[in-house]
Amino acid sequence: MSRCFVTRRLPGDALQRLGLEHEVDVWEEAQPPSRAELLERARDADALLPQLTEKVDVELLDSCPRLVAVADYSVGFDNVDLAAATERGIPVGNTPGVLTEATADLTWALMLSAARRLPEAEKDVRTGTWGWEPSFLLGHDMQGATLGIVGMGRIGSAVARRASGFGMEVIHNSRGGAGVSLDELLERSDFVSLHAPLTPETRGMIGEPQLRRMKPTAILVNTARGPLVDTDALVRALQEGWIAGAGLDVTDPEPLPRDHPLLSCRGLAIAPHIGSATHAAREGMADLAVDNLLAALRGERMPHCVNPEVYERGTRPIRPAP
Ligand code: DGY
Repeated sequence: MSRCFVTRRLPGDALQRLGLEHEVDVWEEAQPPSRAELLERARDADALLPQLTEKVDVELLDSCPRLVAVADYSVGFDNVDLAAATERGIPVGNTPGVLTEATADLTWALMLSAARRLPEAEKDVRTGTWGWEPSFLLGHDMQGATLGIVGMGRIGSAVARRASGFGMEVIHNSRGGAGVSLDELLERSDFVSLHAPLTPETRGMIGEPQLRRMKPTAILVNTARGPLVDTDALVRALQEGWIAGAGLDVTDPEPLPRDHPLLSCRGLAIAPHIGSATHAAREGMADLAVDNLLAALRGERMPHCVNPEVYERGTRPIRPAP
């Protein structure tokens, strides 16, 4: 029996399944463990099941001498130092597929919300400060508009599929130069939706020069990772009208402090990183993360491993936990 440290209680019954074979230590608070608490609780673990809020870096990996597996509870794994895990022969798993449609739906919710200015509209209703007027809260049409997708992977493609129902033209820019150039996409799109993973290459990919290339009527949507966008540049873009609005599920920093200037910008629709927050998606993620751990702890290949090279050239023999 191995010891697994799970950094938050998960929806569904996947943890019960893990508990049938292993000792499961769950961080029960709603807030993430502090760094010191994380290092302390993870120290004797054979396997970790962290969230995107926990940095799995060299310090953590080296403070867990028994560690043989990390199963991230997310599809994006930028919280893990993958090179360091690989060097130590530790397989890292993620949760692809099960959250694709939920995240695409939320992308559309934010796109529509920013286009039709729903946050302002709701505030006006709640404060009773509106009266019918022909030019009150005018927004942007979807029909006939161009949607530019940056990163046509699983989620980008699911967002694109929904666009046909809205009568939109879709263009994309993807890894390896597929589709149109990023500059062309920014210049032509009425809506720009980001679906790239966060890597050293994509960090800050939307900064002042890119925002200035967009149409003044365009809307930027980000349901991927906050640091893809230079937040200060986005604040200026919204304040000074370089673009018309933004729909954000992710920000940098995250969470935003309550007095952050972004929160006072016009044209903003914002959510607290809930792209995958449906019952089915979050239960599916728990199942995949647990499947990854169970396989690794049996000494088998993780079904969703993001550093499969650990199996091919094993820098250190993969040790099934005792
Ligand atoms: C992910 O999975 O990467 C999301 O950001 C959290 O569900």
